[in-house]
Amino acid sequence: MKKELIVAIDGPSGAGKSTLSKRLAGELGYINIDTGAMYRAFALAARNEGVDPADEAGLALLCPQVLIEFSREDGQEKVFLNGEDVTTKIRTPEISLLTSRIAACPAVRHTMVDLQRRMGAKGGVVLEGRDIGTVVFPKAEVKFFLVATPEERGRRRYEELKAKGLEVGLDQTIAEVEKRDADDSSRAEGPLLQADDAIPIDTTRMTIDEVLAEMLRVVQRVLAAEREAEI
Ligand code: DC
Repeated sequence: MKKELIVAIDGPSGAGKSTLSKRLAGELGYINIDTGAMYRAFALAARNEGVDPADEAGLALLCPQVLIEFSREDGQEKVFLNGEDVTTKIRTPEISLLTSRIAACPAVRHTMVDLQRRMGAKGGVVLEGRDIGTVVFPKAEVKFFLVATPEERGRRRYEELKAKGLEVGLDQTIAEVEKRDADDSSRAEGPLLQADDAIPIDTTRMTIDEVLAEMLRVVQRVLAAEREAEI
Protein backbone atom coordinates (compact mmCIF):
# COMPACT_ATOMS: atom_id res chain seq x y z
CA MET A 1 0.00 0.00 0.00
CA LYS A 2 1.32 3.47 -0.88
CA LYS A 3 2.17 5.37 2.27
CA GLU A 4 0.96 8.94 2.47
CA LEU A 5 3.48 11.14 4.25
CA ILE A 6 3.27 14.07 6.62
CA VAL A 7 5.40 16.91 5.25
CA ALA A 8 6.26 19.81 7.60
CA ILE A 9 7.38 23.20 6.26
CA ASP A 10 8.53 25.72 8.86
CA GLY A 11 10.38 29.01 8.71
CA PRO A 12 10.01 32.78 9.17
CA SER A 13 7.46 34.87 7.28
CA GLY A 14 8.26 35.59 3.64
CA ALA A 15 10.60 32.61 3.24
CA GLY A 16 8.22 31.13 0.64
CA LYS A 17 6.34 28.62 2.81
CA SER A 18 2.78 29.35 1.60
CA THR A 19 3.51 29.24 -2.11
CA LEU A 20 5.69 26.15 -1.82
CA SER A 21 3.35 24.33 0.53
CA LYS A 22 0.48 24.78 -1.97
CA ARG A 23 2.62 23.78 -4.95
CA LEU A 24 4.13 20.75 -3.21
CA ALA A 25 0.71 19.54 -1.99
CA GLY A 26 -0.62 19.99 -5.55
CA GLU A 27 2.23 17.95 -7.05
CA LEU A 28 1.79 15.13 -4.54
CA GLY A 29 -2.03 15.18 -4.50
CA TYR A 30 -1.87 15.94 -0.78
CA ILE A 31 -3.96 18.33 1.34
CA ASN A 32 -2.33 21.68 2.15
CA ILE A 33 -2.81 23.08 5.66
CA ASP A 34 -1.87 26.73 6.21
CA THR A 35 -1.59 26.85 10.01
CA GLY A 36 -0.75 30.58 9.97
CA ALA A 37 -4.22 31.19 8.51
CA MET A 38 -5.69 29.37 11.53
CA TYR A 39 -3.87 31.68 13.98
CA ARG A 40 -4.89 34.67 11.87
CA ALA A 41 -8.57 33.60 11.95
CA PHE A 42 -8.33 33.20 15.72
CA ALA A 43 -6.83 36.69 16.02
CA LEU A 44 -9.71 38.10 13.99
CA ALA A 45 -12.19 36.33 16.32
CA ALA A 46 -10.45 37.90 19.34
CA ARG A 47 -10.60 41.35 17.76
CA ASN A 48 -14.27 40.91 16.85
CA GLU A 49 -15.05 39.91 20.45
CA GLY A 50 -12.94 42.74 21.90
CA VAL A 51 -10.55 40.36 23.72
CA ASP A 52 -7.17 41.97 24.40
CA PRO A 53 -4.13 39.94 23.16
CA ALA A 54 -2.64 40.15 26.68
CA ASP A 55 -5.81 38.74 28.29
CA GLU A 56 -4.88 35.04 28.47
CA ALA A 57 -8.00 34.08 30.45
CA GLY A 58 -10.22 35.84 27.89
CA LEU A 59 -8.43 34.12 25.00
CA ALA A 60 -8.78 30.73 26.75
CA LEU A 61 -12.54 31.32 27.11
CA LEU A 62 -12.75 32.12 23.42
CA CYS A 63 -11.06 28.83 22.34
CA PRO A 64 -14.14 26.56 22.47
CA GLN A 65 -16.23 29.17 20.64
CA VAL A 66 -13.98 29.44 17.61
CA LEU A 67 -14.65 27.16 14.65
CA ILE A 68 -12.00 27.33 11.92
CA GLU A 69 -12.46 25.46 8.65
CA PHE A 70 -10.84 25.33 5.22
CA SER A 71 -12.51 24.73 1.90
CA ARG A 72 -11.43 24.72 -1.72
CA GLU A 73 -13.67 26.62 -4.14
CA ASP A 74 -12.81 27.08 -7.84
CA GLY A 75 -9.21 26.07 -7.11
CA GLN A 76 -8.94 28.74 -4.35
CA GLU A 77 -8.31 27.86 -0.73
CA LYS A 78 -10.71 29.62 1.62
CA VAL A 79 -10.67 30.07 5.39
CA PHE A 80 -13.88 30.22 7.40
CA LEU A 81 -14.36 31.56 10.91
CA ASN A 82 -17.62 30.37 12.47
CA GLY A 83 -19.07 29.96 8.97
CA GLU A 84 -17.90 33.35 7.63
CA ASP A 85 -15.41 33.52 4.75
CA VAL A 86 -12.48 35.51 6.24
CA THR A 87 -9.87 34.65 3.56
CA THR A 88 -9.18 38.30 2.69
CA LYS A 89 -9.83 39.88 6.10
CA ILE A 90 -7.05 37.92 7.82
CA ARG A 91 -4.29 39.22 5.49
CA THR A 92 -4.05 42.86 6.59
CA PRO A 93 -0.84 44.16 8.30
CA GLU A 94 -2.92 44.93 11.40
CA ILE A 95 -4.07 41.29 11.72
CA SER A 96 -0.50 40.10 11.01
CA LEU A 97 0.85 41.98 14.03
CA LEU A 98 -2.09 41.03 16.25
CA THR A 99 -1.74 37.35 15.27
CA SER A 100 1.87 37.23 16.37
CA ARG A 101 0.85 38.43 19.85
CA ILE A 102 -2.14 36.11 20.11
CA ALA A 103 -0.13 33.11 18.87
CA ALA A 104 2.02 33.43 22.03
CA CYS A 105 -0.94 32.44 24.26
CA PRO A 106 -0.53 28.79 25.41
CA ALA A 107 -4.30 28.06 25.45
CA VAL A 108 -4.64 29.26 21.86
CA ARG A 109 -1.62 27.20 20.77
CA HIS A 110 -2.95 24.03 22.46
CA THR A 111 -6.29 24.43 20.70
CA MET A 112 -4.68 25.04 17.29
CA VAL A 113 -2.13 22.22 17.69
CA ASP A 114 -4.94 19.76 18.61
CA LEU A 115 -6.92 20.78 15.55
CA GLN A 116 -3.85 20.56 13.27
CA ARG A 117 -3.05 17.07 14.58
CA ARG A 118 -6.59 15.90 13.86
CA MET A 119 -6.47 17.42 10.36
CA GLY A 120 -3.14 15.78 9.52
CA ALA A 121 -3.24 12.47 11.42
CA LYS A 122 -4.00 10.30 8.39
CA GLY A 123 -1.04 11.61 6.38
CA GLY A 124 -1.17 12.82 2.80
CA VAL A 125 -0.70 16.37 4.07
CA VAL A 126 1.69 19.28 3.79
CA LEU A 127 1.50 21.58 6.82
CA GLU A 128 3.23 24.95 6.91
CA GLY A 129 3.88 27.04 10.00
CA ARG A 130 6.48 27.71 12.69
CA ASP A 131 6.28 24.67 14.99
CA ILE A 132 5.09 21.86 12.71
CA GLY A 133 8.31 19.83 12.75
CA THR A 134 9.05 20.52 16.43
CA VAL A 135 5.65 20.41 18.19
CA VAL A 136 2.69 19.52 15.95
CA PHE A 137 4.22 16.53 14.14
CA PRO A 138 7.71 15.90 15.56
CA LYS A 139 7.64 12.51 13.80
CA ALA A 140 6.75 13.91 10.36
CA GLU A 141 8.53 11.86 7.69
CA VAL A 142 9.75 14.98 5.84
CA LYS A 143 10.66 18.33 7.40
CA PHE A 144 11.82 21.46 5.62
CA PHE A 145 12.99 24.72 7.17
CA LEU A 146 12.88 27.59 4.68
CA VAL A 147 14.90 30.75 5.25
CA ALA A 148 15.78 33.94 3.31
CA THR A 149 17.38 37.27 4.24
CA PRO A 150 15.11 39.75 6.11
CA GLU A 151 15.41 42.23 3.17
CA GLU A 152 14.24 39.64 0.66
CA ARG A 153 11.41 38.41 2.91
CA GLY A 154 10.25 41.98 3.54
CA ARG A 155 10.39 42.72 -0.19
CA ARG A 156 8.25 39.66 -1.00
CA ARG A 157 5.66 40.57 1.64
CA TYR A 158 5.61 44.15 0.31
CA GLU A 159 4.96 42.97 -3.28
CA GLU A 160 2.22 40.64 -2.01
CA LEU A 161 0.44 43.41 -0.08
CA LYS A 162 0.81 45.91 -2.94
CA ALA A 163 -0.67 43.39 -5.38
CA LYS A 164 -3.69 43.20 -3.07
CA GLY A 165 -4.06 46.98 -3.32
CA LEU A 166 -2.90 47.68 0.26
CA GLU A 167 -1.04 50.96 0.90
CA VAL A 168 2.26 49.99 2.52
CA GLY A 169 5.89 51.15 2.49
CA LEU A 170 8.86 48.85 1.81
CA ASP A 171 10.93 49.86 4.86
CA GLN A 172 7.89 49.61 7.11
CA THR A 173 7.08 46.13 5.74
CA ILE A 174 10.66 44.90 6.29
CA ALA A 175 10.57 46.28 9.86
CA GLU A 176 7.21 44.57 10.54
CA VAL A 177 8.44 41.24 9.18
CA GLU A 178 11.55 41.45 11.42
CA LYS A 179 9.47 42.41 14.47
CA ARG A 180 7.07 39.52 13.91
CA ASP A 181 9.92 37.01 13.48
CA ALA A 182 11.60 38.26 16.66
CA ASP A 183 8.31 37.82 18.55
CA ASP A 184 7.65 34.39 16.99
CA SER A 185 11.19 33.22 17.82
CA SER A 186 11.27 34.44 21.40
CA ARG A 187 7.95 33.13 22.75
CA ALA A 188 8.07 30.37 25.36
CA GLU A 189 5.50 28.07 23.75
CA GLY A 190 5.99 26.64 20.23
CA PRO A 191 8.59 29.21 19.07
CA LEU A 192 9.84 29.42 15.49
CA LEU A 193 12.59 26.81 15.60
CA GLN A 194 14.35 24.51 13.17
CA ALA A 195 13.91 20.84 14.12
CA ASP A 196 17.21 18.93 14.37
CA ASP A 197 16.16 16.64 11.52
CA ALA A 198 14.73 19.38 9.26
CA ILE A 199 16.32 20.09 5.88
CA PRO A 200 17.19 23.81 5.62
CA ILE A 201 16.71 25.58 2.28
CA ASP A 202 17.81 29.18 1.75
CA THR A 203 15.35 30.54 -0.84
CA THR A 204 16.91 34.05 -1.11
CA ARG A 205 18.36 33.49 -4.58
CA MET A 206 16.21 30.58 -5.72
CA THR A 207 13.11 30.59 -7.89
CA ILE A 208 9.94 28.88 -6.65
CA ASP A 209 10.42 26.16 -9.27
CA GLU A 210 13.98 25.48 -8.09
CA VAL A 211 12.90 25.13 -4.45
CA LEU A 212 9.94 22.96 -5.45
CA ALA A 213 12.20 20.65 -7.48
CA GLU A 214 14.52 20.26 -4.49
CA MET A 215 11.61 19.49 -2.16
CA LEU A 216 10.17 16.95 -4.59
CA ARG A 217 13.54 15.19 -4.81
CA VAL A 218 13.62 14.82 -1.03
CA VAL A 219 10.01 13.58 -0.84
CA GLN A 220 10.56 11.05 -3.65
CA ARG A 221 13.66 9.77 -1.86
CA VAL A 222 11.73 9.29 1.39
CA LEU A 223 8.82 7.59 -0.44
CA ALA A 224 11.28 5.22 -2.15
CA ALA A 225 12.90 4.38 1.19
CA GLU A 226 9.47 3.72 2.74
CA ARG A 227 8.60 1.38 -0.16
CA GLU A 228 11.93 -0.46 0.27
CA ALA A 229 11.22 -0.92 3.97
CA GLU A 230 7.82 -2.48 3.16
CA ILE A 231 9.27 -5.17 0.89
O1 DC B 1 2.54 32.27 8.30
P1 DC B 1 1.73 33.52 8.66
O2 DC B 1 2.44 34.81 8.41
O3 DC B 1 0.36 33.50 8.05
O4 DC B 1 1.53 33.40 10.25
C1 DC B 1 0.82 34.35 10.98
C2 DC B 1 1.31 34.39 12.42
O5 DC B 1 0.95 33.20 13.10
C3 DC B 1 2.83 34.55 12.58
O6 DC B 1 3.11 35.65 13.41
C4 DC B 1 3.28 33.31 13.28
C5 DC B 1 2.05 32.66 13.80
N1 DC B 1 2.09 31.22 13.60
C6 DC B 1 2.45 30.44 14.66
O7 DC B 1 2.73 30.96 15.73
N2 DC B 1 2.48 29.09 14.53
C7 DC B 1 2.19 28.50 13.36
N3 DC B 1 2.21 27.16 13.27
C8 DC B 1 1.85 29.29 12.25
C9 DC B 1 1.82 30.67 12.40
